[in-house]
Amino acid sequence: MTVQETGPLTTESGAPVADNQNSETAGLGGPVLVQSQHLLEKLAHFNRERIPERVVHARGAGAYGTFTLTRDVSQWTRAKFLSAVGKQTETFLRFSTVAGNLGSADAVRDPRGFALKFYTEDGNYDLVGNNTPVFFIKDAVKFPDFIHTQKRDPYTGSQEAENIWDFWGLSPESTHQVTWLFGDRGIPASYRHLNGYGSHTYQWSNEAGEVFWVKYHFKTDQGIKNLTQDEAVKLSGEDTDSHQRDLREAIERGDFPSWTVQVQVMPAADAATYRFNPFDLTKVWPHEDYPPIEIGKLELNRNPENVFAEVEQSIFSPAHFVPGIGPSPDKMLQGRLFAYGDAHRYRVGINADHLPVNRPHATEARTHSRDGYLYDGRHAGAKNYEPNSFGGPFETARPLWEPAAVTGTTQYSPAPSHAEDNDFVQAGNLYRLMSEDEKTRLIDNLAGMIAKVTRDDIVERAINNFRQADADYGKRLDTAVQALRG
Ligand code: HEM
Repeated sequence: MTVQETGPLTTESGAPVADNQNSETAGLGGPVLVQSQHLLEKLAHFNRERIPERVVHARGAGAYGTFTLTRDVSQWTRAKFLSAVGKQTETFLRFSTVAGNLGSADAVRDPRGFALKFYTEDGNYDLVGNNTPVFFIKDAVKFPDFIHTQKRDPYTGSQEAENIWDFWGLSPESTHQVTWLFGDRGIPASYRHLNGYGSHTYQWSNEAGEVFWVKYHFKTDQGIKNLTQDEAVKLSGEDTDSHQRDLREAIERGDFPSWTVQVQVMPAADAATYRFNPFDLTKVWPHEDYPPIEIGKLELNRNPENVFAEVEQSIFSPAHFVPGIGPSPDKMLQGRLFAYGDAHRYRVGINADHLPVNRPHATEARTHSRDGYLYDGRHAGAKNYEPNSFGGPFETARPLWEPAAVTGTTQYSPAPSHAEDNDFVQAGNLYRLMSEDEKTRLIDNLAGMIAKVTRDDIVERAINNFRQADADYGKRLDTAVQALRG
């Protein structure tokens, strides 16, 4: 922790404050004077201490760390921070829950955000993932509707099981992620005991311009540890900050959490004929198709000094790429490329990327975009246009990523289905992989929430999705829900 500064308390403009207990009045016991500048300044600043919370993932905790490359991956990407075995890159990782507001409890059934910033010498690379390899939907146009069902209902002001199951029932592509969420991993014991996933497919390209599609996995070295529904309900009541506290205290005592970093790599030529659409965020690439390859280690080893400055104001964007890494045509990812920068401009402001936690640490940003609210004058008198003849920064002529082939006409249509694609196949496979005990807990967790829905048609539609994934899954869920609904 930073040592307290000494010297007199001052106003915001630096003048010494004589009295911080009593405001200035007209006479003894009289009304307060407008010239009581210290009081007015304090009240005004206090009124403006909050910025808008994140519209999703509002609640979170972050820490700095180090990524170490342990395998040569230059055959797949020319990204400099991935160029030499042993190379280390500073990182900042923010964990979060998704649906709850800023002051909500940590120990809830919800995906966990896993937003990772690599401060590379070619600029910051952000990998904004979750602790789940898949997601509920596969087109960004559905995201605001989905999140509306997770947040507070406009009439009741509360989260409503009715809305959640109505949306999921009508969005069968959610069946895989919902099976995951209501299984054992749905409530992690802490931020240290979960895996992270990039979730989307991303493009890597090497020096020769060859393209590969990759998926990232961060496997916790602490081991997976989860809470049961009952344990989580109890913990949430006792300590809303359980995950945040656990992470900070572990780092304070030098027990640095770490993750083994793996990638699945698909040569570009495989994509068109792969049995699943490789850009579908509701599907994994089974490991027997593309085995995970270990490439590095991520360790968290430094707590932020100031939660507001470094965690609340931190920004992560899936559009923050570096040379050798780029987007895939995943329709969810494409929507996210816009959404995050837009959120940052609204939530933190147009100069959010100048803040210490957000700016590049291993290079500097040399952009001609400048000025606006809270601009700090960092460019001094340098020219603010390009091309110029004053030796200013110049373009490189090499895009960060390689071109992708496109065909046909513009259209509103789902991403193409491949040979084995449907909304239920991987949900069914996941269910069948579970032990008998795991299946029982999954059914109990699902039934407990579905039974809160009042409308029969919404209940039936929700159960029918699980029935299509696996007949036994549907049958057991139906029985459990009927027993609870009476
Ligand atoms: C089209 C779909 C999505 C949209 C439009 C979207 C939009 C957003 C927005 C607006 C924020 C708040 C950003 C801020 O205020 O700084 C956010 C946060 C976040 N989202 Fe998404 N999101 C989408 C899907 C996803 C997916 C699929 C994942 C994970 C695979 C994800 C992971 C996260 C994480 C981890 C954060 C918190 C970042 C932080 O810690 O600051 N989102 N999302």
